Amino acid sequence: MTKRILQALKREAVDRPPFWLMRQAGRYLPEYREIRATAENFLDFCYTPEKALEVTLQPLRRYQMDAAILFSDILVIPDALGQSVAFRQGEGPVLEAITDDVGLDRLSLETFEAALEPVFEAIRRISAVLDDETALIGFAGAPWTVALYMIEGRGGTEGTNIRTWAATRAESFQRLMDILVEATTRYLVRQVSEGAEVLQLFDSWAGLLPEDQFQRWIIEPNRRIVEGVKAIHPDVPIIGFPRNAGVMYRAFADQTGVDGIGIDHTVPVSWAAKELQPICTVQGNLDNHLLLAGGEAMERAVQNILEVLSDGPFIFNLGHGVLPPTSPDHVGRVAEMIRNWNQS
Ligand code: CP3
Repeated sequence: MTKRILQALKREAVDRPPFWLMRQAGRYLPEYREIRATAENFLDFCYTPEKALEVTLQPLRRYQMDAAILFSDILVIPDALGQSVAFRQGEGPVLEAITDDVGLDRLSLETFEAALEPVFEAIRRISAVLDDETALIGFAGAPWTVALYMIEGRGGTEGTNIRTWAATRAESFQRLMDILVEATTRYLVRQVSEGAEVLQLFDSWAGLLPEDQFQRWIIEPNRRIVEGVKAIHPDVPIIGFPRNAGVMYRAFADQTGVDGIGIDHTVPVSWAAKELQPICTVQGNLDNHLLLAGGEAMERAVQNILEVLSDGPFIFNLGHGVLPPTSPDHVGRVAEMIRNWNQS
C-alpha cells in the first residue's frame, strides 16, 4: 500500500481523498492535556523526544489520519537562533521583541542546528514507528510569519511594528528575511534527512500584505526555501499555506514551486478547483468553527468540499487549526465521512 498523501501530491489517482488536520495533536484531546500537564514549559515539552513522539501519535490512534505531523512549533526557529521565547498559560507565545539592527546582530546561525537536535531525534522516533500507509509531515513557519512573532513579541496583534519596519526600512528587514530563509532551509533539509516525507510551510499571516509586499515578503522567501530544500532533496513534496491570501493564492501557487497549497476556509472551493488544482494539489478547507459546531452544518460543508475538490488532486484538511474546545467526536465524524467517501 502506498501513502495516499504522497500519491495526491504527485497528482496520482487515489482510492479516496487523503486527510490530516492542522493542529490534529493538541488541547482538544484529553490524552494530550494529560501529558502536557507533565511539563511546565511548552518548548521543553516540544524538545522532549519521547513526549513529542507520544503526542504526534495520539490523533492517529483515534482517527487513522493519512499523515502524522511532527509535534513541535514554528517558534523553535527564533528560539534556536538565540531569541528568548516563552509560552504563557492562556496567553500564547511571548518573545523578547526585536526592534532594530542591533537585535538582528544578536541572532546566530552558529549553534542553531545543534539546538534543534531534539526535534531531529523526535522525527527519527516517529519515522521508525509509522506504518506503511501513514506519511510523516515535517514543517516550519515561513519567514514573514515567524518574523511577525519575532518583531511583535506575541500573537494577536495587527502586525503594526513588522509592517512599519518592512515598509520603511526594507533593506534592514530583508536582512532578517535572509537569516530566516537560510535557517528554515537548513532546518527543513535536516527534517527530510531524518525521515520527514512531506513538508509544510505555515505562512499564517500572509494575508496582511498588499500585492507588491506579498510578492517580496511572502512569495519570494517561500520560493527560495522550496528551491533550497529541493536542491538537496529533489523529490520531497512541499505544501505552502499562505493563509488568507485571497486571489494571491494563484500567484503563490504559480511562482513558489510548491507541490501543494493549503487554502483557508474563505476560499470558494469552486474557485480553487478551477484556478489552483490545474497547477497544485489543493489542501483544505473546512472552517475550523464548523468543526467546532459539528452537526448538520459541519456535515454539509464536508460533503461540499469533497464533492467539488475530490475530482482533482486534493488532500482534505481544515482552513486553519483545530480549536481547543472542539469535541473529539466531531473529528471522528469527519474522519468517518472521508473514509466512506466514494463518488459513485
Ligand atoms: O498537530 C500539529 O499541527 C503539530 C503541532 C503544531 C503546533 N503549532 C503545536 C502547538 C504546529 C504545526 C504549530 C504551528 C504553529 N505555531 C503556527 C502556524 C499554524 C497556525 O496555527 O497559524 C503558529 C502561528 C504557531 C505559534 C503558536 N504556538 C501560537 C500562536 C500558540 C498559542 C496559541 C495556542 O493555540 O495555544 C502556540 C502554542 C501551541 N503550538 C500549542 C500547540 C499544541 C498549545 C500549547 C499548549 O499545549 O500549551
